[in-house]
Amino acid sequence: MKVLVVGAGGREHAIVNALARSPQRPELVAAPGNPGIAAVARCVPVGVEDLDGLLALARDEEVGLVVIGPEAPLVAGLADRLAEAGIAHFGPTAAAARLEGSKAFAKEVMASAGVPTAQWEEVASVAGGLAAIDGRYPTVIKFDGLAAGKGVVVAPDEPAARAALVEMLEERRFGEGAVVVEDFLDGEELSLFAICDGERAVPMVPAQDYKRIFDGDEGPNTGGMGAYSPVAGAPDSDALVAAIHQPVVDLLRERGTPFHGVLYAGLMLTAEGPQVIEFNVRFGDPETQVVLPRLRSDLLETLVAATRPGGLESNAMDFGADWAVTVVLASGGYPASSHSGDVITGLEEAAATGAEILHAGTARRDDGAIVTAGGRVLNVTALGPGPAAARDRAYAAADLIKFDGRQLRRDIAQRAVERMTT
Ligand code: AMP
Ligand code: GLY
Repeated sequence: MKVLVVGAGGREHAIVNALARSPQRPELVAAPGNPGIAAVARCVPVGVEDLDGLLALARDEEVGLVVIGPEAPLVAGLADRLAEAGIAHFGPTAAAARLEGSKAFAKEVMASAGVPTAQWEEVASVAGGLAAIDGRYPTVIKFDGLAAGKGVVVAPDEPAARAALVEMLEERRFGEGAVVVEDFLDGEELSLFAICDGERAVPMVPAQDYKRIFDGDEGPNTGGMGAYSPVAGAPDSDALVAAIHQPVVDLLRERGTPFHGVLYAGLMLTAEGPQVIEFNVRFGDPETQVVLPRLRSDLLETLVAATRPGGLESNAMDFGADWAVTVVLASGGYPASSHSGDVITGLEEAAATGAEILHAGTARRDDGAIVTAGGRVLNVTALGPGPAAARDRAYAAADLIKFDGRQLRRDIAQRAVERMTT
């Protein structure tokens, strides 16, 4: 089978690698892909926002399946366009993708389905925001649009809240869009993906990601600086999916907008139980880079099954017991900005350690050199029988890779290691 993977990041590189491990030996095409993906898939320069171009590519190549990586084309209706053309695809329709595209819609669905989540209020002015907060700190201020994970501020006090409200509502850092004030949820975060076939939600394995730029969860939010899987002490995945994902899948089916694809719940494990921070309608980045390397069954078979109503078996996937850790290497200036064109060395040496080197924001220069081309540049994933072994291997490989301005967190999965030893 020929499979087209849409996207250009580390997540898509992990998806392509997992598909390449399929015993079905699919022929892989990526749009637009990246220099790392190009080692396993034929890359075609069609951007993820170019729905006409992607549709034409899928048709011309006569692909058997399109796997849609990022949220933007899903929210824009790529799945609907492919459905009209009769092309099988993994990823929800625009109607179902509103779970990620609109916070108001997601909150309404959660209320209707009885899924626990924080209280929130939309605000239109700085004064209105401060009134909604009403002196309750810490509080959470969110830009209600796609902001690559950077539109969230956890404000410890009024000056911080005021500054965030001014930035979003008056300076319009992220452009036009609603701003919401949300109750702060205290606890540990957990990401859990479920593969959905319109009727059933089947759990993958839990992961934890690191959103802040600096060690110790300091500094601003990023798209994600690292992740590990599994997560010791996490509630049972079947129970979580039964309480969180399945009610949403049931509700969307009843409403005539069934969800096919991966439903990703970002959860806070609070003292009162798990609460949803957000839903995403695609694989998480960088969690995918630790979840898929642990998958032992055939990803392609699962993704194809999910395209058919009720096509999945409850035991559709088999994961290994090994732990996985991924460390993100970011470019200078990230997350406020990013730096392109810095030459990257040590990629082959790092790969020779057995680590999986995933490209996220790289480019190949005319002279063949691989250079930085974005905020998050590379993800270095390693497996091991426990968190310490996986972590040591990931850092050993990451430290072989060099480029000017390189940033990485040193504490990815440290928490998991400490838990195993105490
Ligand atoms: P989001 O983009 O909504 O996933 O938010 C990004 C990050 O901000 C989350 O992963 C959390 O670390 C934090 N966050 C978002 N909402 C809340 C909340 N209600 N309470 C505490 N932390 C939150
Ligand atoms: N890991 C966060 C995200 O993919 O949105």
